[in-house]
Amino acid sequence: MLTIALPKGRIADETLEIFEKTFDTKFVFEDRKLILDTGDFRFLLVRNQDVPAYVLNQAADIGVVGLDVLMEKEMDLMKLMDLGIGKCKVCVGMRDEDELDLNSPLIVVATKMENIAKNYFASKAMAVKIIKLYGSIELAPIVGLSDAIVDIVETGDTMRQNGLKIVDTIMESSAHLIANKNSFIANKEEILTLYKRINDTIKEIN
Ligand code: PRP
Repeated sequence: MLTIALPKGRIADETLEIFEKTFDTKFVFEDRKLILDTGDFRFLLVRNQDVPAYVLNQAADIGVVGLDVLMEKEMDLMKLMDLGIGKCKVCVGMRDEDELDLNSPLIVVATKMENIAKNYFASKAMAVKIIKLYGSIELAPIVGLSDAIVDIVETGDTMRQNGLKIVDTIMESSAHLIANKNSFIANKEEILTLYKRINDTIKEIN
């Protein structure tokens, strides 16, 4: 039996749809239940940012997680495949009237993605002060908490409606299937079979 960690919300629903199409079976969590046991699989519902920890510590063999979260966590996990769902970008945002000044001595950046932000500004040889936030990131530059933000942009509505613009795109993200390295070795055939079947489903969908 393979244990699969799914991030709560839309990605979990879309991933379960992919599994349903692949196995021609219904995979539905009951009301508030966080575990779904069905046939050869056990699905776990966890927070998006927690998926890598479940997989790294082998509480789950495989997981589904955004590439952005994977990059942020910098954990030693196997990336198996791009599921092509949950597409978004990680962007640097500023107020409409501001510009990114690469010569500025210090830029203050609000973000929940500290590592991605640090690496980006290091690559630009800019000194950065990171203010770690847990949500509503777009508020920070408006009220003077930061000069810029590094955040997820999906439709762009949140930035637009708060008078912010994208000044650079750091990375494109989508949900990826990941595996624990030891689980992969121990369950190689099962995981590779799953990989092939899901890959076929994805090809069919697109
Ligand atoms: C994410 C992200 C942006 C928003 C972007 O926030 O941090 O705020 O979605 O989406 P959009 O481009 O379609 O407007 P989330 O909904 O995860 O809430 P949070 O502020 O609590 O992180």
